[in-house]
Amino acid sequence: MLWSGHGRSRELVATTPEDRPLSVQIFSGRTEDLIRAAVWLQEQGYEGVDINMGCPMAKVNGSGGGARLMCSTDNAVRMVEQLIGAVRIPVTVKMRLGWDATTQTAPELAAAFEQIGVAAVTIHGRTRAQGFHGSVNRDGIRQVVQAVRSMPVIANGDVRTVDDAFQMLQDTGCAGVAIGRGAMLDPWIFRRIRQRVQADAETGEGADTDPSPDEQMQFLEQHFELMQQQHAERSCVLFRKFAAWYGCTLGIPEDLEDRLRRFESAAEFARIVNEIRRRHGERARQVPTALLKVPNGPVEHW
Ligand SMILES: Cc1cc2nc3c(=O)[nH]c(=O)nc-3n(C[C@H](O)[C@H](O)[C@H](O)COP(=O)(O)O)c2cc1C
Repeated sequence: MLWSGHGRSRELVATTPEDRPLSVQIFSGRTEDLIRAAVWLQEQGYEGVDINMGCPMAKVNGSGGGARLMCSTDNAVRMVEQLIGAVRIPVTVKMRLGWDATTQTAPELAAAFEQIGVAAVTIHGRTRAQGFHGSVNRDGIRQVVQAVRSMPVIANGDVRTVDDAFQMLQDTGCAGVAIGRGAMLDPWIFRRIRQRVQADAETGEGADTDPSPDEQMQFLEQHFELMQQQHAERSCVLFRKFAAWYGCTLGIPEDLEDRLRRFESAAEFARIVNEIRRRHGERARQVPTALLKVPNGPVEHW
């Protein structure tokens, strides 16, 4: 619990001066817990609070939080209204389209949230029942956009490329796009989108530039360095899970990606990065390892 001040929770909201404005997401099925956490965040100087109404995990839903809140719209609206009354910082909501195909409450909730002063909503275009399966329902997101008057609706789900982002804007009429896994697959996706927007404005043509091999390696090293600063001895274990996402965009040969998924020390990391520099781009598979389907993935017993 955030307000209990436990080290682990504090670590999750740790930040730097450059990381501003910063809003923190919280979840609970209990209004008093949400209020306590939001007030604590406000006192610490965070600039916004986002309520998680999209999480599909049984542990979170079982206690009434995450996507479970979307099942009882009156309760959800009352809860958010009380939270808005308790803090001065903007309150936003992240949700899915609904619990399942027959209970798509997102448009109704978004309209009610606008009435009580929610600053923006982000919609992941799947239901809770879908988990992460199937494809994102852009019609469903568009219905949410159409249900509100001026509150920004941020569309989310399966945006992996610059084209996907622009298609999402066009198909849904959303005010913005939120990118999750796409940023792990391609950490430069935001820069590419900005370049496209600027190029469109100046010449009417799109132009995304790929990061150079040097830039890619610097990124890899900087990410690990920052993790070491924040997580000390846990940094190797925590960094390993990024290897399966980064490998493709960073041109990391499969055998070196495999070593990055197992390395145990900073010295080993440095040796692997040197090898990647030497063999950059020698990669046969163009599908990122993180997207290979289990049980066909690289580790047999996940
Ligand atoms: C490993 C993982 C952790 C996530 N954790 C959260 C979370 O804490 N809060 C949240 O609102 N969404 C969370 N999501 C969902 C994403 O925010 C996003 O809605 C979803 O991945 C679809 O968008 P994407 O296709 O751009 O990744 C998580 C997704 C993944 C894959």
